[in-house]
Amino acid sequence: MNKVALVTGASRGLGRAIALRLAKDGLTIIVHYGQNQAAADEVVAEITALGSKAIAIQADVSQVSSIHAMFERLDIELVNLTGESKLDVLVNNAGTAIAKPIGDWTEEEFDQQFDLNVKGLFFITQSALSRLRDNGRIINLGTGLTRFSYPVYGVYAASKGAVNVLTQYLAASLGERGVTVNTIAPGAIDTDLNAGWLRSEEGQQQTLATSAIKRIGMPDDIADVVSFLASEDSRWVTGQRIEASGGAHL
Ligand SMILES: NC(=O)c1ccc[n+]([C@@H]2O[C@H](COP(=O)([O-])OP(=O)(O)OC[C@H]3O[C@@H](n4cnc5c(N)ncnc54)[C@H](OP(=O)(O)O)[C@@H]3O)[C@@H](O)[C@H]2O)c1
Repeated sequence: MNKVALVTGASRGLGRAIALRLAKDGLTIIVHYGQNQAAADEVVAEITALGSKAIAIQADVSQVSSIHAMFERLDIELVNLTGESKLDVLVNNAGTAIAKPIGDWTEEEFDQQFDLNVKGLFFITQSALSRLRDNGRIINLGTGLTRFSYPVYGVYAASKGAVNVLTQYLAASLGERGVTVNTIAPGAIDTDLNAGWLRSEEGQQQTLATSAIKRIGMPDDIADVVSFLASEDSRWVTGQRIEASGGAHL
């Protein structure tokens, strides 16, 4: 029986790389997306070409009603795909980062960060729990920015700080089921999220100057660590924040 992973935000960036890596590991993948159905369909096609099973599913993760509606559809889709409505791995990857000096933030932007990165992650996890098999895996995306500081990312980092704390509490609650819960905290990785800055001359120089390993991080650098956290080999690791940043700001 193939294990099943739900990867949120798998249409692009880190989520896409994670979905493809877990598919190579032999898992069936639920490719969640927000707005980019065409991109999600491409990921499904790539996974199918690898010989694994996949379907795409949509939800606005910042809306709890949308999350609930997605799980209702997912129950039916999972039965069609695998014979039962069960998950083995949840990767809470969908997220966004707004960069602004403290004085420029609006209430709407603040809510946008927390609704997606914290509230959405929490309610997806809540809905997933009744579908998650014992000895399952929950992997949350955090950030290196909860250890080191770039002032414009204060609100974003605070939302990921909440993710670190939720990870610890979920791990404590779910350990008796053998479910592990960990945060992977990437440094700057080349995706759409930060392309404007990271692909600029200044962004490249600043990132390389503050990194022990002298190159820019790529999505596969994160996907390979997620592969370990999703595997049986990580069974004794839970409640942890694992940074994969190439040694940023050591
Ligand atoms: N890239 C980095 O340097 C970096 C560093 C540390 C942590 N992270 C974290 O890693 C995760 C992925 O980042 P990324 O760089 O891959 O970002 P990205 O390239 O901007 O991709 C974001 C993904 O999240 C989905 N998404 C965004 N808003 C959504 C919403 N309201 N509802 C549903 N899905 C939504 C997008 O789906 P659609 O395109 O289909 O709408 C997309 O698949 C985030 O949690 C981020 O905070 C990234």
